[in-house]
Amino acid sequence: MTDLFSKFDPLIQQREELLATGLTDPFNLVMERVESPTVAICNGKRTILLGTYNYMGMTFDPDVIDAGKKALDDFGSGTTGSRVLNGTYGGHKAVEQALKDFYAMDHAMVFSTGYQANLGVISTIAGKDDYIVLDIDSHASIYDGCALGNAQIVPFRHNDIQALESRLRRIPEGAGKLVILEGVYSMLGDIAPLKEMVAVSKAAGAMVLVDEAHSMGFIGENGRGVAEAQGIIDDVDFIIGTFSKSVGTVGGFCVSNHPKFEILRLVCRPYVFTASLPPSVVATAATSIRKLMNSADKRAHLWENSKRLHAGLRQLGFELGTSEPQSAIIAVIMPDLEKGAQMWEALLHEGLYVNLARPPATPGNMTLLRCSLCALHSEEQVGEILGMFAAAGRATGCIS
Ligand SMILES: Cc1ncc(COP(=O)(O)O)c(C=O)c1O
Repeated sequence: MTDLFSKFDPLIQQREELLATGLTDPFNLVMERVESPTVAICNGKRTILLGTYNYMGMTFDPDVIDAGKKALDDFGSGTTGSRVLNGTYGGHKAVEQALKDFYAMDHAMVFSTGYQANLGVISTIAGKDDYIVLDIDSHASIYDGCALGNAQIVPFRHNDIQALESRLRRIPEGAGKLVILEGVYSMLGDIAPLKEMVAVSKAAGAMVLVDEAHSMGFIGENGRGVAEAQGIIDDVDFIIGTFSKSVGTVGGFCVSNHPKFEILRLVCRPYVFTASLPPSVVATAATSIRKLMNSADKRAHLWENSKRLHAGLRQLGFELGTSEPQSAIIAVIMPDLEKGAQMWEALLHEGLYVNLARPPATPGNMTLLRCSLCALHSEEQVGEILGMFAAAGRATGCIS
């Protein structure tokens, strides 16, 4: 018998070698108690959360919690059914209406996760004879959607407008073309030049899908994302998003003005062949989304936090993923995995949680400490965070 697990041996060995040095496992942390969107208890210690993508801090919003409790009482703990059978409740229609209002678009379709939204929409609209042109640093769910649909995949260099244009030019005349972009790329926290890229795509006759998972609620005047901030949201055919970041719960969605959009509900397998979100989840999501429509003050504070942390980390001597803050994600570039894991652990001992990202999930095989800010981090907390980075950076030799 061939052990089908033998392909994982190199990863198992790398992990064992790292843990043999006595380091805490960076991918096995338990949040023992979560006190707020910015503080949890980990290993019995108060820990500031700087790696949760809880950008707008909605997870403990009293209105959101009340809506969830009420739905649990009124509709039970789950739907036990697909959206096309017994799994569409009033709450699912209400959250889709909240999304249509939030984005000012005609159609909204909710999936059980953002991963499934990409998987479903991409695989359903782009099939084996179609071409998908996508940024090489696209999220795993985008790649998996392309694979599921069997489309021809044409990747181009990250954020390179000319590379996109030249790839589009090579696609056979008359073929179906979908360009997939992200508003914010979550590894380095950089944004896409959507305005130029959407123009180039449209000129080539392609449809455009933008994943705004990391910009919803925060970027753009109404929090609709980078496409709104760059003034081209009306030229985008499909926006994909998630409830697992700014909205503060779980779920995914696609919004669109395409006149035939609703047919997806019958032909999109990751929508049809899975149970719908629990009533409590859609109720919390709808309440959160409606509150995000009126959150300009929180957006402004989050930008302040992002600028303050970016400037402070640079001043301490850390190398960052972007030369200026472009989103609520700030990536600190580590020299290698070993140093990155040491720094991650040192920060945890200081009382700070960030995400460790390592190859092959990272661009250029970098090891990154990814920091994601929350609108509810106070100015004092950002000061504390910088103090912890200074202490951990010196203790591990990452800065002098
Ligand atoms: C760009 C992007 N798209 C989609 C997803 C999937 O979202 P979800 O957590 O809702 O499955 C993520 C999550 O990390 C993401 O970063």
